[in-house]
Amino acid sequence: MDLNGQRVLTRVDLNVPMVDGRVADATRIKKIVPTMNEIIKRGGIPILLAHMGRPKGVRNQELSLLQLQSELENYLSTKVIFVAECIGPSAEIALEIAQKGQVILLENTRFYPEEEKNDPQFAASLAALVDIFCNDAFSVSHRAHVSTTGLAKYLPSCAGKFMEAELKALESVLGQPARPVAAVVGGSKISTKIELLENLVEKVDCIIIGGAMANTFLFSQGLNIGRSLVEKSLKPTALKILKKAKKYSCKIILPTDLIIAKELSKNTTSSVVPADKCPENYMILDVGPSTVDNIKQCIKSAKTLLWNGPLGAFEISPFDEATNQASKYASERTKEGELISVAGGGDTVAALNKAGVTETFTYVSTAGGAFLEWLEGKELPGIVCLTKK
Ligand code: 3PG
Repeated sequence: MDLNGQRVLTRVDLNVPMVDGRVADATRIKKIVPTMNEIIKRGGIPILLAHMGRPKGVRNQELSLLQLQSELENYLSTKVIFVAECIGPSAEIALEIAQKGQVILLENTRFYPEEEKNDPQFAASLAALVDIFCNDAFSVSHRAHVSTTGLAKYLPSCAGKFMEAELKALESVLGQPARPVAAVVGGSKISTKIELLENLVEKVDCIIIGGAMANTFLFSQGLNIGRSLVEKSLKPTALKILKKAKKYSCKIILPTDLIIAKELSKNTTSSVVPADKCPENYMILDVGPSTVDNIKQCIKSAKTLLWNGPLGAFEISPFDEATNQASKYASERTKEGELISVAGGGDTVAALNKAGVTETFTYVSTAGGAFLEWLEGKELPGIVCLTKK
């Protein structure tokens, strides 16, 4: 697209963690830099449109994007002008006088109730202030809001560089991946990952199930899981997934040994037991060393690895051991050029950060819900509207 002299309304994800009014993790800010640089280099004026938190259509200073102005200036190495509105006279004037080389930051779009309702009037008012819509926020593309889909109806639209990178990485895993493909699916609840598992068993060659989710699978096979986190009502679902996996020749790796303790705390005494020997008054808090060996074997034979969710209660050591060991092994295989490793969703980034492997995986997505919905095989409205364009 010709961006010269154009006002490029760019949807970015600035939903960053804040502590005492300061940015606690600037990853999402750093990720938008290439798109900003590209727009500026090509003579366009980037106008940032983003949300923070879930203010539900009500102004809330604690969620104002004003807090990000200096951090953005720092990473973008240019002047960022904050506008306390998204539409209306102040936004009109600010966009009118904006100069090349500057970046405009509009206030939290979720301060407007119309945003989440995907209100066409709000979309039209925003569109009237700019020339082009660029979506650089894959992580919000599962939402059908004005800033993700509504604007595409009124403006020439495109994907930004960060969006492009996310889509390419995801395509490399489930589009036309190098086979065999292995997937690590962990986390606490099978109920949040049913659709994901059902989709993955059709597409990948091996699924490693860890986290408290694995307890529901062990329980469904009649094993004692003591006082562990479990969703007993999902026993039929777990069995159905195992049956479907068989049908699609997808190998399922469940824990063969477990790390157990009486409670989830730092100084608790933990021990290793076989998967069928968890005592009544104990909790399963991680997978054991022989399971980690099985996981490594599976990763070793894979050409592509998808990672979603931790294998144990990684927030508290030593229950991060399996996640650390398995992810370090995946990162070594990646460095050796033997594996394409893509991770994302929910707790995954925090778990891989703790293991120190985020930089050495092929790609780690900052998307949570959008990553999961994509893995579930769903169409994401924010992508569909760009594809249609
Ligand atoms: C995220 O943090 O995953 C995105 O910014 C989406 O936020 P949301 O779940 O509030 O829509």
